Amino acid sequence: MALDFGLKGQRVLVTASSSGIGYGAAQAFLQEGARVVINSSNAEKLANARSKLAPLGEVHAVTGNLGSKEDLDHLVKESLSDLGGIDVLVYVTGSPKPGRFMDFSYEDWRSASDLLVVSPAYLAKLVADQMIKSGTGGRMVFLSSWVIKEPLLTIALSSVCRTTLLSLVRTLSRELGPRKVRVNGILPGYIRTGRIDQLAQNAAKTRGIKAEEWVREIENEIPMGRIGTTSELSNAILFLSSELSSYISGVSLPVDGALLRSI
Ligand SMILES: NC(=O)c1ccc[n+]([C@@H]2O[C@H](COP(=O)([O-])OP(=O)(O)OC[C@H]3O[C@@H](n4cnc5c(N)ncnc54)[C@H](OP(=O)(O)O)[C@@H]3O)[C@@H](O)[C@H]2O)c1
Repeated sequence: MALDFGLKGQRVLVTASSSGIGYGAAQAFLQEGARVVINSSNAEKLANARSKLAPLGEVHAVTGNLGSKEDLDHLVKESLSDLGGIDVLVYVTGSPKPGRFMDFSYEDWRSASDLLVVSPAYLAKLVADQMIKSGTGGRMVFLSSWVIKEPLLTIALSSVCRTTLLSLVRTLSRELGPRKVRVNGILPGYIRTGRIDQLAQNAAKTRGIKAEEWVREIENEIPMGRIGTTSELSNAILFLSSELSSYISGVSLPVDGALLRSI
């Protein structure tokens, strides 16, 4: 028997959702009967995603770059006008450019910080404001990555800048707890999306191996022996967005097939 997450009619904003993890989450919410706003920076990709999702239920699309203050203001304004409120925020981002620490300039750190540090904090404030005003509160789920626990040298910008999300989740959950807003994080391990294919192609090019070889190497590193699916990740997102997790706030949950070693 399918589990009922009780999300029917809930008003949900999922950022960075024209493909991959965000798209999978939007799809899962629609299948639960939620009303959803999707977002991404590329209007054409976003319109295609909306067309594919539309048969599942009520879905709106708002184009916007998560690294821009004006676009974040616009995203929240449009979401409120489309849905009449926001009960659930699922925050996903694009990725900063890959590379090792010594590869990056001041400007690279600046733009990665705008995307991965300033943007989730500012968006959380905008959404929390209206969740508090509504009187019924809400839930926020911030997606980051397993690399914030065990940095990956080849994606240094991501490994360093995303660590803020651990603290953001704890800080917000404590400040907003009394206002009925629960805030949690998810640390995905390797999840099968276009980004994984891209990482495999990059590794193939730089190391002169086949893309499938890189995927096999990764799978060998994962105790459960395989890369996860967006639907497995979405189940965790639905859980933290629903009343099934009613006494959970401030956690960052790894969904990684036991990849992380640290205690
Ligand atoms: N897949 C994994 O194994 C994995 C594991 C851990 C963490 N992550 C992280 O999770 C996030 C999503 O990964 P994914 O695998 O789903 O990647 P993906 O398939 O490449 O999707 C990325 C999404 O982000 C959107 N996006 C990119 N830049 C944006 C921006 N500035 N503003 C708004 N939207 C933007 C893209 O749409 P547009 O191009 O239309 O803007 C797309 O919808 C990434 O930050 C990734 O680093 C992924």
